[in-house]
Amino acid sequence: MRLCSCNIRLLFSTNTFMPATIQLQVNGKTHSLQVDPETPLLYVLRNQLQLNGPKYGCGLQQCGACMVLLNGKAEPSCMLPVSAVQHKTITTLEGLAKDENTLHPVQDAFVKEQAAQCGYCLNGMVISAVALLNENPRPDDKAIREGLYRSLCRCGTHTRIIKAVKRASGQLPADE
Ligand code: FES
Ligand code: FES
Repeated sequence: MRLCSCNIRLLFSTNTFMPATIQLQVNGKTHSLQVDPETPLLYVLRNQLQLNGPKYGCGLQQCGACMVLLNGKAEPSCMLPVSAVQHKTITTLEGLAKDENTLHPVQDAFVKEQAAQCGYCLNGMVISAVALLNENPRPDDKAIREGLYRSLCRCGTHTRIIKAVKRASGQLPADE
């Protein structure tokens, strides 16, 4: 029998879905989900929990669009099997603010500095900035650049993003 590429794809794509019960702690809530344990966390957040703050960019852990906080540290979620984060505390962009009517101080600073053009990188930038400020509450420019280096901004708003992180850390006067 001769196999074309379509046949080969079918052979490799059948019977590979093995759902299991996975418990996730996301934004302060516990979720019990039926999902293939190898599914990337990003897909579960977006498709099953409707948390669309984390974005799909490269899918290769190269752009930072899919960042989430895992136990307070910023990590890309696009290649991370959901089974690997069962015992971790996951926070997405939606879980940063303490309520629906209040922005997190980092989000507020990004708005005040207008630190976005298309906005696609913002999830990664904000999540990375929150993680940075948790570890270093008054970072200088070099520390901010290093803290955000895994998030790519195609629009070139880096100057305003750095200023927003400085504002969030209280290093700028309120009227500047
Ligand atoms: S989509 Fe995850 S790093 Fe690019
Ligand atoms: S604002 Fe467009 S990618 Fe950063």
